[in-house]
Amino acid sequence: MSPDINGRPSGGLIEPILRVHGATKRFGGLTAVDRVSFEVRPAEIVALIGPNGAGKTTLFSLISGFQPLDEGSVSFQAKDVTNFAPARMAHLGLARSFQIVQVFADLTVHEAVTAAALMRHSMGAALRKADETLALVGLSEKGANVTPELSLQDRKLLEVAKCLATEPKLILLDEVMAGLTMSEAEAVLKVVRRLRSEGMTFVLVEHVMPIVMSIADRIVVMNFGQKIADGSPAEIIEDRFVRDAYFGEDLHA
Ligand SMILES: Nc1ncnc2c1ncn2[C@@H]1O[C@H](COP(=O)(O)OP(=O)(O)OP(=O)(O)O)[C@@H](O)[C@H]1O
Ligand SMILES: [Mg+2]
Repeated sequence: MSPDINGRPSGGLIEPILRVHGATKRFGGLTAVDRVSFEVRPAEIVALIGPNGAGKTTLFSLISGFQPLDEGSVSFQAKDVTNFAPARMAHLGLARSFQIVQVFADLTVHEAVTAAALMRHSMGAALRKADETLALVGLSEKGANVTPELSLQDRKLLEVAKCLATEPKLILLDEVMAGLTMSEAEAVLKVVRRLRSEGMTFVLVEHVMPIVMSIADRIVVMNFGQKIADGSPAEIIEDRFVRDAYFGEDLHA
């Protein structure tokens, strides 16, 4: 099989790294995630989009073990991981950023990344892993800063670094670009693209359509808990159902 222009193996024969089947989550009378199925292949960047309350963050919680599924299944690297605890998922290679950034105000950037690296390493190796990870995302010079001193862009890069330091196979990023200007977001996207070119796989929740269009190989669209579309950016733009449900006229503004 020949690699495509991004260096990824092409064709549909590659085993998905993540397979979500019929995932369902109810909160009382509300079905926040309603029989959602989708797959992610290695070194793919999949964007998960949909209006506020569509169920995107809840779907991330079901995949990463932070909330139990009511129905359905999740498999990761061909292993059934349905309702595995978050720590177990992290050990298997799944990293997740949180929409509400939890800032440990008194930790330095280097300490925060070292703490993440301790999941797999003893202290000496974790310190080295933190050096290496901060260099990868371009935060080496900020290692001694405490998080509140960071710009929003650098905080987002720190979120990515904390994920990376756990040595994941798949990273779920929940609105990591939110609040950034386009040029700040571009700096974060550059890091994501480079990591992907080295084989990392991403699922990202984003609201800003130019960002989604520029980075996603594939887009999964949710609305009222259900998956309403799944396709390439070009296919999603053309999807009338998606346009009606989600984009309205914005797409052509
Ligand atoms: N723990 C919870 N208890 C009750 N309802 C919840 C809970 N978590 C989420 N919900 C509800 O489930 C629905 C989906 O929420 P979710 O946060 O997954 O949406 P989202 O697509 O991430 O939205 P946003 O774009 O605003 O982040 C919403 O109606 C929300 O109010
Ligand atoms: Mg959300």
